[in-house]
Amino acid sequence: MKEIFTYASYAPTHYMKEPWKVKLFQGKGKHAFVDEILLSYERIGMLRKDTGPKTMKMKESMRQFLLAIPHHAVIYFKAEEDPIRYEEDYAAVCAFIQNAQLAAWEFRVGMLWTITPYMHDQEFAQKIEIKEDQMKIAAVLQLGYPNKVPRDKGRTPIEEKLEFIDE
Ligand SMILES: Cc1cc2nc3c(=O)[nH]c(=O)nc-3n(C[C@H](O)[C@H](O)[C@H](O)COP(=O)(O)O)c2cc1C
Repeated sequence: MKEIFTYASYAPTHYMKEPWKVKLFQGKGKHAFVDEILLSYERIGMLRKDTGPKTMKMKESMRQFLLAIPHHAVIYFKAEEDPIRYEEDYAAVCAFIQNAQLAAWEFRVGMLWTITPYMHDQEFAQKIEIKEDQMKIAAVLQLGYPNKVPRDKGRTPIEEKLEFIDE
């Protein structure tokens, strides 16, 4: 993990701010983290709050799904008030994330970039000890050796996006 995130940190960064911060939840550290995700889902209405069998079953299956993911990396940064500075920092953090994905794959470690609703829940951030003022969660990365490698989805031919202006 240290090697992967060291490669990631060579991302371009304006003013050498290196705005990225990472909390890596793994092993026993995942239990409280996953509990907080489920509580957040209840707060934001994605999970019902009752203790009926249907809700409990759904909650348990979500818990097991999340616990089966070997590592969860919460990527966060200080949200500058100035929108231009914010954009620069978010851009650097995104470059950091993709560097991490590419470095991970060199070790055949898969890394899924997720934007999940609990990222926007301030109470969730507090509960996982992201307490400093104005911190913003940029993404949650789910890492591990994949059971199967996803198919190549392909991409739109670059000719459709690339315009040469020669004169
Ligand atoms: C900002 C961002 C958020 C994403 N969020 C999710 C997500 O929540 N769940 C997911 O399965 N994939 C997520 N992805 C991954 C995309 O679904 C994936 O990159 C896309 O389907 C193309 O697949 P490929 O990267 O394997 O070529 C996200 C990607 C980005 C850049």
